[in-house]
Amino acid sequence: MSSRRRRIYEGKAKILYEGPEPGTIVQYFKDDATAFNNQKKGTITGKGVINNRISEYLMTRLNEIGVPTHFIRRLNMREQLVRQVEIIPLEVVVRNVAAGSLAQRFGIPEGQALPRSILEFYYKNDQLGDPMVTEEHITAFGWATPQDIDDIVALALRVNDFLSGLFLGIGIKLIDFKIEFGRLYEEEMVRVVLADEISPDSCRLWDLKTNEKMDKDRFRRDLGKVEEAYQEVARRLGILLDPGAGDHRGPATVQ
Ligand SMILES: Nc1ncnc2c1ncn2[C@@H]1O[C@H](COP(=O)(O)OP(=O)(O)OP(=O)(O)O)[C@@H](O)[C@H]1O
Ligand SMILES: [Mg+2]
Repeated sequence: MSSRRRRIYEGKAKILYEGPEPGTIVQYFKDDATAFNNQKKGTITGKGVINNRISEYLMTRLNEIGVPTHFIRRLNMREQLVRQVEIIPLEVVVRNVAAGSLAQRFGIPEGQALPRSILEFYYKNDQLGDPMVTEEHITAFGWATPQDIDDIVALALRVNDFLSGLFLGIGIKLIDFKIEFGRLYEEEMVRVVLADEISPDSCRLWDLKTNEKMDKDRFRRDLGKVEEAYQEVARRLGILLDPGAGDHRGPATVQ
């Protein structure tokens, strides 16, 4: 842990520290897990290590196809260096298959394929329980401009297409996911870039053959084998470590 660095923010799943250069921050991935707007709390042993790796991998692949992200490099087992951005206070959700709140709200069975991908916005505000909002609310309240929203929608759909294919290739269905964007100021320019993380905490991932859940729903719904599911996602992505190894077994498990 980095007690020398100045802590900027502690969230539910990550801690942000001041980075080594101006305009950078260090994201430290914790094992803490929360669900239902903080009502359910727990820990998933080794989750931080796996999510650090998975998010590194997915952000890197997205960068390669030209999706701008905040990611710079992974520093160690639990930390990555990222560009500090001004977070746009929206949770952007893309759905391919009905699950979670969408299935609930419209009475659709979980697992029903959607006729087209659905994009939703939620206002990032824990006190309000992250309420769903429309573009009207977003522009009226000044959270993002119409141009920002255009950029966000285009990027979110590209992320969805790319990740859907990537996961399909390893026998996983990308049911839905949540991403965050931020404004990056550089050379008198502002760009919207992908920020935060992409991991089994923020995606619904189902095994292609068995429909077994391989994501945070295992924690939300007390399905057990949570760490194992996260490990399996990492293993299929080809980025693991020994199966079953936590981050406490020494340096042999790194790389
Ligand atoms: N590149 C970045 N620059 C600045 N802030 C970032 C960046 N990437 C992610 N963040 C923010 O850092 C925090 C990450 O911590 P964590 O995911 O634990 O938060 P959280 O508990 O989910 O809280 P929140 O409701 O604020 O997202 C989030 O608030 C996220 O918006
Ligand atoms: Mg978060």
